[in-house]
Amino acid sequence: MNLRRPAPTADDLALPSTARIYDYLLGGHENYKVDRQAAKDMVATVPDSPTAVRSNRAFLYRAVRFLAGEAGVTQFLDIGSGLPTQLNVHQVAHGVSPRAHVVYVDYDPLVNAFGNALMSTTDTVSFARRDLRYPGEILADQQVRELIDFDRPVAVLLIAMLQFIDESEDPHGIVGQLIEALPSGSYIAISHVLDDPRTRAIADIQERANTHPWTPRPAGRIRHFFDGLELVEPGLTVACRWRPDPDTPMLERPADLPILLNPDGTEQDVDWLLAGIGRKP
Ligand SMILES: C[S@@+](CC[C@H](N)C(=O)[O-])C[C@H]1O[C@@H](n2cnc3c(N)ncnc32)[C@H](O)[C@@H]1O
Repeated sequence: MNLRRPAPTADDLALPSTARIYDYLLGGHENYKVDRQAAKDMVATVPDSPTAVRSNRAFLYRAVRFLAGEAGVTQFLDIGSGLPTQLNVHQVAHGVSPRAHVVYVDYDPLVNAFGNALMSTTDTVSFARRDLRYPGEILADQQVRELIDFDRPVAVLLIAMLQFIDESEDPHGIVGQLIEALPSGSYIAISHVLDDPRTRAIADIQERANTHPWTPRPAGRIRHFFDGLELVEPGLTVACRWRPDPDTPMLERPADLPILLNPDGTEQDVDWLLAGIGRKP
């Protein structure tokens, strides 16, 4: 495959990384000056970027609560998991189903290092350093196979991840390959950056900063990821409107980034992030 950009390696620590930029926007501390500068450039161009990241993480929480609860899934494959942070999938899933199995997958070496350090004490959670552009390698991965039984329903999470797969890398074919490997009754949860002048401006910043640039997509292309699946209510929608729940825990606010608030103190809606969950019939 002709990769738009190779997976990061330990030699790339001087460059900003998607995982660390996201960590900083979320108020985390596992990031460097280059990451913070890239994030600040994004915020200067699109001021609700930190709000979008929070809205995305809150969707992840509600999605996992739904999948572990109402949907009764006990196996989670979180691809493009990011650095361990607030409301991690295993914490949310274990709150509902304490023995649920969770495998985190990310191509970033630092994510893998932090993940392994954090998870070394549990037998229900593991990390695999893999690149989504090679889905066959994820499906065959030993750590994945140890915890995920592909004869029973699996929830695959692709949260704020697919926009990092360029059209030339066949994102729909990749998702199709994952879906094909799943048994009936499995789910795919997706959130994705919508194509818009603001998100294209961020792609330009990412390109200039020499980090992995995203490919925002129009709603029709995002919906196409769910082909062959039954969309769970309310369907594909702006992330903050996917089953909003006042019981979603408040994420800590980042100390030095603006969170855009409504006059009543609630966080503003972000309209450039779509989310949905599909079930394989
Ligand atoms: C924006 S973060 C999202 C983190 C988490 N899923 C969330 O929504 O809170 C995107 C993550 O995807 C990872 N990523 C990007 N391209 C990837 C690829 N081709 N394979 C695996 N991981 C990838 C990045 O390293 C980063 O950690």
